[in-house]
Amino acid sequence: MPTDFSEAPEFRGVVALDGPSGTGKSTVAKLLARRLRTQYLDTGAMYRAATVAVLRAGVDLEDPVAVATEVAASRIDVGTDPWRRSIQLDGRDVEREIRTAATTAAVSAVSAVQAVRTQLVAQQRLIIGRAPTVAEGRDIGSVVWPDAELKVYLTAREEVRARRRAGELGDEDLNRVIQSLRRRDDFDSSRAASPLRRPDGSTEVDTSELTIDEVVELLASLAFQAVSTADRA
Ligand code: DC
Repeated sequence: MPTDFSEAPEFRGVVALDGPSGTGKSTVAKLLARRLRTQYLDTGAMYRAATVAVLRAGVDLEDPVAVATEVAASRIDVGTDPWRRSIQLDGRDVEREIRTAATTAAVSAVSAVQAVRTQLVAQQRLIIGRAPTVAEGRDIGSVVWPDAELKVYLTAREEVRARRRAGELGDEDLNRVIQSLRRRDDFDSSRAASPLRRPDGSTEVDTSELTIDEVVELLASLAFQAVSTADRA
Protein backbone atom coordinates (compact mmCIF):
# COMPACT_ATOMS: atom_id res chain seq x y z
CA MET A 1 0.00 0.00 0.00
CA PRO A 2 1.32 3.50 -0.74
CA THR A 3 2.36 5.34 2.39
CA ASP A 4 2.16 8.89 1.05
CA PHE A 5 -1.45 10.05 1.21
CA SER A 6 -0.69 13.78 0.95
CA GLU A 7 -2.67 13.96 -2.31
CA ALA A 8 -5.55 11.82 -1.06
CA PRO A 9 -8.88 13.51 -0.33
CA GLU A 10 -9.52 14.35 3.31
CA PHE A 11 -12.37 12.64 5.10
CA ARG A 12 -14.53 15.05 7.08
CA GLY A 13 -16.19 12.96 9.72
CA VAL A 14 -15.64 10.43 12.48
CA VAL A 15 -14.97 6.73 12.09
CA ALA A 16 -15.75 4.68 15.23
CA LEU A 17 -13.83 1.44 15.22
CA ASP A 18 -14.76 -1.04 17.94
CA GLY A 19 -14.09 -4.70 18.60
CA PRO A 20 -12.07 -7.11 20.69
CA SER A 21 -8.28 -7.42 20.52
CA GLY A 22 -6.58 -9.47 17.84
CA THR A 23 -8.91 -8.26 15.09
CA GLY A 24 -6.23 -5.96 13.67
CA LYS A 25 -8.09 -2.95 15.08
CA SER A 26 -5.08 -0.87 16.17
CA THR A 27 -3.13 -1.35 12.96
CA VAL A 28 -6.21 -0.77 10.83
CA ALA A 29 -7.22 2.37 12.78
CA LYS A 30 -3.78 3.94 12.45
CA LEU A 31 -3.47 3.17 8.73
CA LEU A 32 -7.05 4.26 8.06
CA ALA A 33 -6.38 7.62 9.77
CA ARG A 34 -3.34 8.10 7.51
CA ARG A 35 -5.38 7.12 4.49
CA LEU A 36 -8.27 9.48 5.37
CA ARG A 37 -5.88 12.20 6.63
CA THR A 38 -7.61 12.48 10.01
CA GLN A 39 -6.57 12.40 13.64
CA TYR A 40 -6.07 8.98 15.21
CA LEU A 41 -7.34 8.23 18.71
CA ASP A 42 -6.30 5.06 20.54
CA THR A 43 -8.62 4.99 23.55
CA GLY A 44 -7.17 1.67 24.74
CA ALA A 45 -3.84 3.48 25.24
CA MET A 46 -5.62 5.94 27.55
CA TYR A 47 -7.08 3.12 29.70
CA ARG A 48 -3.63 1.53 29.72
CA ALA A 49 -1.98 4.80 30.87
CA ALA A 50 -4.61 5.10 33.63
CA THR A 51 -3.67 1.54 34.65
CA VAL A 52 0.02 2.46 34.81
CA ALA A 53 -0.90 5.29 37.19
CA VAL A 54 -2.88 2.91 39.41
CA LEU A 55 -0.15 0.26 39.44
CA ARG A 56 2.59 2.79 40.19
CA ALA A 57 0.59 4.15 43.12
CA GLY A 58 0.13 0.63 44.47
CA VAL A 59 -3.62 1.12 44.64
CA ASP A 60 -5.80 -1.93 45.37
CA LEU A 61 -7.43 -2.90 42.04
CA GLU A 62 -10.46 -4.18 43.95
CA ASP A 63 -11.14 -0.73 45.37
CA PRO A 64 -12.97 1.26 42.65
CA VAL A 65 -13.03 4.49 44.67
CA ALA A 66 -9.25 4.40 45.20
CA VAL A 67 -8.71 3.51 41.54
CA ALA A 68 -10.91 6.39 40.36
CA THR A 69 -9.25 8.83 42.77
CA GLU A 70 -5.80 7.91 41.48
CA VAL A 71 -6.86 8.28 37.84
CA ALA A 72 -8.56 11.62 38.55
CA ALA A 73 -5.26 12.89 39.99
CA SER A 74 -3.31 11.81 36.90
CA ARG A 75 -2.81 13.65 33.63
CA ILE A 76 -3.07 11.52 30.52
CA ASP A 77 -2.01 13.06 27.21
CA VAL A 78 -2.58 10.96 24.13
CA GLY A 79 -1.08 11.98 20.79
CA THR A 80 -3.39 12.02 17.76
CA ASP A 81 -0.85 11.93 14.92
CA PRO A 82 -1.28 8.61 13.06
CA TRP A 83 2.36 8.84 11.95
CA ARG A 84 3.72 9.12 15.48
CA ARG A 85 2.09 7.42 18.45
CA SER A 86 2.59 9.02 21.81
CA ILE A 87 1.11 8.59 25.26
CA GLN A 88 2.19 10.47 28.36
CA LEU A 89 1.35 10.12 32.00
CA ASP A 90 1.94 13.26 34.07
CA GLY A 91 4.18 14.63 31.33
CA ARG A 92 6.31 11.49 30.87
CA ASP A 93 6.31 9.00 28.03
CA VAL A 94 4.75 5.66 29.01
CA GLU A 95 4.55 4.09 25.54
CA ARG A 96 6.52 1.03 26.62
CA GLU A 97 5.02 0.65 30.07
CA ILE A 98 1.43 0.59 28.79
CA ARG A 99 2.21 -2.61 26.81
CA THR A 100 3.78 -4.69 29.61
CA ALA A 101 2.12 -7.91 30.76
CA ALA A 102 1.47 -6.35 34.19
CA THR A 103 -0.45 -3.45 32.64
CA THR A 104 -2.37 -5.75 30.30
CA ALA A 105 -3.34 -7.98 33.22
CA ALA A 106 -4.71 -5.04 35.23
CA VAL A 107 -6.33 -2.91 32.52
CA SER A 108 -9.68 -4.71 32.48
CA ALA A 109 -10.19 -4.00 36.19
CA VAL A 110 -9.33 -0.31 35.81
CA SER A 111 -11.45 0.18 32.68
CA ALA A 112 -14.45 -1.42 34.43
CA VAL A 113 -14.64 1.46 36.93
CA GLN A 114 -17.44 3.80 35.84
CA ALA A 115 -15.82 6.97 37.23
CA VAL A 116 -12.65 6.21 35.26
CA ARG A 117 -14.72 5.77 32.10
CA THR A 118 -16.62 9.01 32.69
CA GLN A 119 -13.35 10.92 33.00
CA LEU A 120 -11.69 9.36 29.96
CA VAL A 121 -14.81 9.50 27.77
CA ALA A 122 -15.09 13.26 28.47
CA GLN A 123 -11.47 13.68 27.39
CA GLN A 124 -12.04 11.53 24.27
CA ARG A 125 -15.06 13.62 23.26
CA LEU A 126 -13.02 16.81 23.51
CA ILE A 127 -10.34 15.35 21.25
CA ILE A 128 -12.81 13.99 18.67
CA GLY A 129 -14.74 17.28 18.69
CA ARG A 130 -11.62 19.13 17.49
CA ALA A 131 -11.21 17.53 14.04
CA PRO A 132 -12.08 14.55 11.82
CA THR A 133 -10.96 11.38 13.60
CA VAL A 134 -10.56 7.65 13.37
CA ALA A 135 -11.13 6.49 16.96
CA GLU A 136 -10.65 2.92 18.14
CA GLY A 137 -11.83 1.21 21.30
CA ARG A 138 -14.66 -0.84 22.76
CA ASP A 139 -17.41 1.77 23.18
CA ILE A 140 -16.73 4.47 20.58
CA GLY A 141 -19.83 3.85 18.45
CA SER A 142 -22.06 3.05 21.44
CA VAL A 143 -21.04 5.65 24.05
CA VAL A 144 -18.23 8.02 23.08
CA TRP A 145 -19.45 9.13 19.64
CA PRO A 146 -22.74 7.45 18.66
CA ASP A 147 -23.20 9.96 15.80
CA ALA A 148 -20.05 8.82 13.99
CA GLU A 149 -20.47 8.94 10.20
CA LEU A 150 -19.14 5.38 10.05
CA LYS A 151 -19.32 2.78 12.82
CA VAL A 152 -17.45 -0.45 12.31
CA TYR A 153 -17.29 -3.51 14.52
CA LEU A 154 -14.25 -5.61 13.70
CA THR A 155 -14.27 -9.31 14.47
CA ALA A 156 -12.12 -12.33 13.64
CA ARG A 157 -12.29 -16.02 14.51
CA GLU A 158 -10.85 -16.75 17.95
CA GLU A 159 -8.02 -18.88 16.62
CA VAL A 160 -7.01 -16.15 14.14
CA ARG A 161 -7.09 -13.51 16.86
CA ALA A 162 -4.98 -15.69 19.15
CA ARG A 163 -2.40 -16.27 16.41
CA ARG A 164 -2.10 -12.54 15.74
CA ARG A 165 -1.84 -11.78 19.46
CA ALA A 166 0.78 -14.54 19.92
CA GLY A 167 2.80 -12.98 17.09
CA GLU A 168 2.68 -9.54 18.75
CA LEU A 169 3.70 -10.95 22.12
CA GLY A 170 6.31 -13.37 20.82
CA ASP A 171 4.50 -16.07 22.83
CA GLU A 172 4.50 -19.48 21.19
CA ASP A 173 2.01 -21.11 23.52
CA LEU A 174 -1.20 -20.61 21.53
CA ASN A 175 -3.38 -22.21 24.20
CA ARG A 176 -2.11 -19.81 26.82
CA VAL A 177 -2.82 -16.85 24.51
CA ILE A 178 -6.35 -18.17 23.79
CA GLN A 179 -7.04 -18.49 27.53
CA SER A 180 -5.84 -14.96 28.22
CA LEU A 181 -7.84 -13.54 25.26
CA ARG A 182 -10.97 -15.30 26.51
CA ARG A 183 -10.48 -14.00 30.04
CA ARG A 184 -10.14 -10.40 28.84
CA ASP A 185 -13.04 -10.69 26.35
CA ASP A 186 -15.31 -12.21 29.00
CA PHE A 187 -14.40 -9.50 31.45
CA ASP A 188 -14.77 -6.65 28.91
CA SER A 189 -18.11 -8.03 27.62
CA SER A 190 -19.71 -8.76 30.97
CA ARG A 191 -18.77 -5.66 32.96
CA ALA A 192 -21.62 -3.36 34.00
CA ALA A 193 -20.00 -0.15 32.70
CA SER A 194 -20.11 0.11 28.87
CA PRO A 195 -19.63 -3.60 28.11
CA LEU A 196 -18.02 -4.47 24.79
CA ARG A 197 -20.83 -5.02 22.30
CA ARG A 198 -21.57 -4.33 18.69
CA PRO A 199 -22.89 -0.74 18.52
CA ASP A 200 -26.30 -0.05 16.96
CA GLY A 201 -25.96 0.97 13.34
CA SER A 202 -22.48 -0.49 12.96
CA THR A 203 -21.14 -2.53 10.06
CA GLU A 204 -19.55 -5.79 11.16
CA VAL A 205 -16.36 -6.68 9.31
CA ASP A 206 -14.81 -10.12 9.84
CA THR A 207 -11.07 -9.70 9.25
CA SER A 208 -10.18 -13.43 9.51
CA GLU A 209 -9.57 -13.88 5.79
CA LEU A 210 -8.55 -10.31 4.89
CA THR A 211 -5.15 -8.64 4.86
CA ILE A 212 -4.70 -5.39 6.78
CA ASP A 213 -4.52 -3.46 3.49
CA GLU A 214 -7.78 -5.01 2.31
CA VAL A 215 -9.52 -4.02 5.54
CA VAL A 216 -8.15 -0.44 5.32
CA GLU A 217 -9.29 -0.05 1.70
CA LEU A 218 -12.73 -1.46 2.50
CA LEU A 219 -13.20 0.89 5.44
CA ALA A 220 -11.88 3.90 3.49
CA SER A 221 -14.48 3.32 0.78
CA LEU A 222 -17.24 2.82 3.38
CA ALA A 223 -16.16 6.07 5.06
CA PHE A 224 -16.31 8.15 1.87
CA GLN A 225 -19.60 6.50 0.94
CA ALA A 226 -21.02 7.38 4.38
CA VAL A 227 -20.21 11.09 4.07
CA SER A 228 -21.44 11.35 0.49
CA THR A 229 -24.73 9.69 1.53
CA ALA A 230 -24.99 12.12 4.46
CA ASP A 231 -24.33 15.08 2.09
CA ARG A 232 -27.16 13.98 -0.21
CA ALA A 233 -29.61 13.43 2.66
O1 DC B 1 -7.38 -2.05 22.83
P1 DC B 1 -6.49 -2.34 24.03
O2 DC B 1 -6.12 -3.79 24.19
O3 DC B 1 -5.28 -1.45 24.08
O4 DC B 1 -7.40 -1.96 25.28
C1 DC B 1 -6.95 -2.15 26.58
C2 DC B 1 -8.12 -2.40 27.53
O5 DC B 1 -8.86 -1.20 27.72
C3 DC B 1 -9.08 -3.50 27.10
O6 DC B 1 -9.01 -4.59 28.01
C4 DC B 1 -10.44 -2.88 27.19
C5 DC B 1 -10.24 -1.46 27.66
N1 DC B 1 -10.86 -0.48 26.79
C6 DC B 1 -12.13 -0.06 27.13
O7 DC B 1 -12.71 -0.56 28.08
N2 DC B 1 -12.73 0.91 26.38
C7 DC B 1 -12.12 1.45 25.33
N3 DC B 1 -12.74 2.40 24.62
C8 DC B 1 -10.83 1.01 24.96
C9 DC B 1 -10.22 0.03 25.71
